[in-house]
Amino acid sequence: MGWGQKNRLSRIIKPKDGRSLMLAVDHGYFLGPTTGLENFKKAVDPLIPYADTLFATRGMIRSCVDPKIDTPIMLRNSGGTSILNKELLHEGITVDIKDALRMNAVGVGYSIAVGMDWERDTILDFSKVVDDCEKYGLVAMAVTAVGKDLTKDARYLGLASRIAAEHGAHIVKTYYCKDFDKVVDACPVPIVMAGGKKIPEIEALTMAYNAIQAGAVGVDMGRNIFQSDDPVAMMRAVRELIHKNATPKEALQFFNDNKKSGSMPKKSTIAADDTKKV
Ligand code: R5P
Repeated sequence: MGWGQKNRLSRIIKPKDGRSLMLAVDHGYFLGPTTGLENFKKAVDPLIPYADTLFATRGMIRSCVDPKIDTPIMLRNSGGTSILNKELLHEGITVDIKDALRMNAVGVGYSIAVGMDWERDTILDFSKVVDDCEKYGLVAMAVTAVGKDLTKDARYLGLASRIAAEHGAHIVKTYYCKDFDKVVDACPVPIVMAGGKKIPEIEALTMAYNAIQAGAVGVDMGRNIFQSDDPVAMMRAVRELIHKNATPKEALQFFNDNKKSGSMPKKSTIAADDTKKV
């Protein structure tokens, strides 16, 4: 790794504890106005101060995020299909690496569709993304997408994560599963856990805690934060867990202590939120 790439990686994974808290707010690239992110700026601005890295699309960053932001930006650079498409996850490269550089991104995140009919296209595209990142010193994150016929288990996620690493990923983002330590053991590059669909706060905190215990460097979490009863309190609770070694119980206590009274669970407005996609 060159100096620039190491420097960018150290902005994502904090050298002081080797941990990373990414806020995933890229969902609109295939889900449109996702529950909790309908008004992107209003939802995301209050969360930014607590995130190590913001994971979003270039369009939302440009139109909704203040360029004076101190938080590193990781750009979602795959897409091309929507939740309405039968071939959801048949994605291609959506951002030229030079534009990622112009936006001062620390890296890019691309979904590989291992096990799907178009896995070859996405793995070859991801290899191009890695080549571009090597050329310009950016960090390439592979997202292990999961098709509707595939099980989120250690066998499949281990396979997809290892394939991502073999093709040069600097970071792999994958789901939590039983025997997650096996997924981590077989993947020689840092793993961040994707949160998945909204579950009760204590379950999301426990899942993130277990992922860290199994060796993940952190999380790239979205819906369990921005769809929480109180997104800021949840973001801060996850931060306690990642950077202050809080247990799930302590983090939940922190969430309850900091939750604004009267905050109500958000109603889902989009059935598609429950997508099978990562
Ligand atoms: C990945 O493909 C998605 O677009 C999200 O970035 C990812 O699923 C993480 O968000 P969540 O915690 O909501 O699953």
